[in-house]
Amino acid sequence: MRVVSGIQPTGNLHLGNYLGAIRNWVTMQDAHPGQCLFFLADLHAITLFQDPASLTASTREMAAALMASGIDPAKSILFNQARVPEHAQLAWILSCTARIGWLNRMTQFKEKSGKDREGASIGLYTYPVLQAADVLLYKATHVPVGDDQKQHLELARDIATKFNNDFAVELFPLPEPIIPAAAPRIRSLRDGSAKMSKSDPSDMSRINLNDDADSIAAKIRKAKTDPAPLPDTLAELAERPEARNLVDIYASLSGETPDAVLARFAGQGFGAFKPALAELTVETIAPIGAKFRALLAQPEVVDAALAAGGEAARAIAAPVLAEVQAAVGF
Ligand code: ADP
Ligand code: NA
Repeated sequence: MRVVSGIQPTGNLHLGNYLGAIRNWVTMQDAHPGQCLFFLADLHAITLFQDPASLTASTREMAAALMASGIDPAKSILFNQARVPEHAQLAWILSCTARIGWLNRMTQFKEKSGKDREGASIGLYTYPVLQAADVLLYKATHVPVGDDQKQHLELARDIATKFNNDFAVELFPLPEPIIPAAAPRIRSLRDGSAKMSKSDPSDMSRINLNDDADSIAAKIRKAKTDPAPLPDTLAELAERPEARNLVDIYASLSGETPDAVLARFAGQGFGAFKPALAELTVETIAPIGAKFRALLAQPEVVDAALAAGGEAARAIAAPVLAEVQAAVGF
């Protein structure tokens, strides 16, 4: 079994990123030690213009966040795509296997390119071919995918099948999707109708991975709520998105269902619930934040981990690319 997964490097990481994305990788690593490759998708990031210094900083920040959250370079291969030139080399070859009609059917390009389709980068259009290369380069057998990426994994399977047929080889296994356990959508602490996001101008709206214990507690204390006590059932929270969000955060951190959390706190107001939530959040996030800050203070440690991860990835990728080149006749 080989699992390959990528995430775009984004800075200013928050609780939503941790509960919705980063934590899943740690679970994956612990379920399949020695079999996972995780990469920061910097080649994908530049399909939309990135300020170079911010891209460098965000890549390092995401790597530090992953390491602080428990991604262990001794158990997983952690690297950034741009350091492994075989990704781009294989993507070119596969772009000669993929058909224009196949890419024209990709719905994500239509969403991401918006109204100015003619002004979008070529890379944004061929992004799914690079994604196919990302997994086929390691002969991945399993790829964790969210709903929005299912179509791209299907494309990777189509490309692998056509390549194997065109060159009469059994080179690429067809990667299977792993559907990760449903991740919660964490909402803003200031507005239950918005998701928690780094782009929210209010810092009080989110818990950042590098907030210290006091700021975490203060943000939860000041989170928007209502005066009613917590009800017995989730259905009764339908019209109370801020309250629902705090219950969801609690459940996600404790590993309980939101119903189980309500069963314990029903009848209590936020004067009782918020301190319990603050304690739980501090317990989980403060140690991650401390490791995160320590790693950011030693960027050379993070860079060295990524460099070593890149070498380990290349040790798998280079022989596969050589096989591909031989199949093509290079
Ligand atoms: P942001 O909205 O802060 O810009 P990104 O869009 O860069 O975050 O998302 C990075 C990863 O974190 C994605 O996998 C995304 O699904 C996850 N994520 C972002 N915000 C949330 C949230 N509020 N709740 C759950 N997951 C989230
Ligand atoms: Na975003």
